[in-house]
Amino acid sequence: MSNSLYSMLDVHSPANGVQQIQLHRPEALNALTTAMLGELALALEEAEANESVKVVVLTGSARVFAAGADVKEMAERDMVGILKDPRQQSWQSISRFPKPLVAAINGYCLGGGCELAMHADILIAGTDAKFGQPEINLGIMPGAGGTQRLVRAVGKSLAMQMVLTGQPINALQAKEAGLISEITQPELTLTRAMEVASQIAKKSPLALRLAKESILKGMDTDLNTGLRFERHAFTVLAGTKDREEGIAAFLEKRPAKFTGQ
Ligand code: CAA
Repeated sequence: MSNSLYSMLDVHSPANGVQQIQLHRPEALNALTTAMLGELALALEEAEANESVKVVVLTGSARVFAAGADVKEMAERDMVGILKDPRQQSWQSISRFPKPLVAAINGYCLGGGCELAMHADILIAGTDAKFGQPEINLGIMPGAGGTQRLVRAVGKSLAMQMVLTGQPINALQAKEAGLISEITQPELTLTRAMEVASQIAKKSPLALRLAKESILKGMDTDLNTGLRFERHAFTVLAGTKDREEGIAAFLEKRPAKFTGQ
């Protein structure tokens, strides 16, 4: 069942801890309008607050994940309009989502769509996926993390090539470069992403949250600061019931039942 509060998203009810959110603006290849991005930020805020959601899977359609920011809407914005752009708040909100976010990507994943996919913690793509930052063809450049997250994901040379030529890479190149973790047959992308999400949903939510935060912190900082953060997070988890349960379950040779306490 999906939530009709949203007009450009299909937000499913969580099942076994996994909530699926599907971008749904087929008439414009899921181009991200300000309103659509706002809906996504809101859906993720709701997913954060909902204890029955442990993991979110974000996907598009069989043909496209998202073809970027909506160019027609962008054309109406001047410099002042961009300075006051509410999209920034939505991007920040999406980037702060603390639960695991898995992206299932088929077809075009371009511009703001690629930038959105890079907000996911795990990216799984069909063999038909195409990742690109084509903004240069419009006389602009990526503006939602494309020059920053992409270089961290694929390294300088490939990031430069993608951003400066605007040419997309295919799923195999994306896998080799480390942008995605797995390639599947296109018809299995969502199934595989749901499988990975289901595995994650069985773990302790507290451990998931701190492990995610620790990895993201490490990408943002020097090694010593990252290691200190990891040590604090590891120590905090020593005080949780989930740790007691995880260790007891291992010793008693039974599956753990984590409660998020
Ligand atoms: N914005 C608005 N509308 C878009 C769109 C976009 N980014 N991408 C596709 N559409 C619309 C098309 O205008 C077309 O609508 P009409 O039928 O009303 O004309 C419809 O979606 C189908 O698109 P095409 O006919 O172009 O489909 P195609 O299969 O021939 O080509 C494509 C697919 C290669 C993805 C092509 O649509 C394309 O190049 N899209 C633009 C990609 C792009 O430049 N993205 C970057 C945007 S800028 C950005 O993202 C900046 C940022 O975040 C900061």
